[in-house]
Amino acid sequence: MKVKKAILPVAGFGTRLLPASKSIPKEMITVVDRPAIDYVVQEAIEAGIDTIVLVNHPAKQAIENYFDRNAELENLLEKKKKNKILDEIRAIVPDHVTVVAVRQPEPLGLGHAVLCAEKVIGNEPFAVLLPDVLVDSADQNNLAQMIAQFEQNQASQIMVEDVAPERVDQYGIVKLEKQGEENTTNILGLVEKPAVSEAPSTLAVVGRYVFTPEIFNYLKETQADKSGEIQLTDAMAKLLGVQNIQAFTLHGQTYDCGSKIGYLKAILHYATQRNELKDELLEFIKTLN
Ligand code: G1P
Repeated sequence: MKVKKAILPVAGFGTRLLPASKSIPKEMITVVDRPAIDYVVQEAIEAGIDTIVLVNHPAKQAIENYFDRNAELENLLEKKKKNKILDEIRAIVPDHVTVVAVRQPEPLGLGHAVLCAEKVIGNEPFAVLLPDVLVDSADQNNLAQMIAQFEQNQASQIMVEDVAPERVDQYGIVKLEKQGEENTTNILGLVEKPAVSEAPSTLAVVGRYVFTPEIFNYLKETQADKSGEIQLTDAMAKLLGVQNIQAFTLHGQTYDCGSKIGYLKAILHYATQRNELKDELLEFIKTLN
């Protein structure tokens, strides 16, 4: 079965981006001229996804509004003949794509957020994209490649990236069958945010997943950890007992927009991709100490 649906968990409070995230959902913070989440939704659409399921919190409706039509604004732009921006606004969600939202009633973690979308996904394979993480892979869409690997190997796919040892305690970390292997390879084990002394490797799970629907069964069995959260990593470790899960090595660069430094790097990176901004921005950076 083809992978056509994607879950984007967006209900988190974004404490790393306070005070801004007190009233602006962290996913709506602007990278050049678009909210960060727009980059992630466009990545999913480019990879062939046609149904985006936002798992949201009642206080974060700005995200749903961004992906909805705004007839008043469109009429105004039409009247003022601002056709270029009107086209851009209409293209945010192409006609063949549907964005739906479900609620996560309690902050019980990433695993619980994914489980909240089960009824919309049904018995189909699906992708999960964490909207904090922007993936820039230049001309190759990593998610599209993960979906192709999924369809070829019929095994769940997890994107991994090598991180500095001092950062392993911020990620799910994988143990691979063939360490150092470049492409897709089987995962032997997973652990959520280990201490560096206990980490099986420095290969971190960075926010792109393609799952068989069986993951839902294991999410239902997974107990909250000591932080009170149901971890997706723990359910993946259980799924591993019955199905292969493969690691897909990131090609390109990730930007963690949930952190201040990652967000600033993302702005600079994406701004310098834009011809109309690049030269002046680089000139300005040279003048900074
Ligand atoms: C979550 C996952 C973790 C993953 C990380 C990627 O953690 O639980 O396994 O490595 O996202 O960003 P969070 O950053 O939500 O604490």
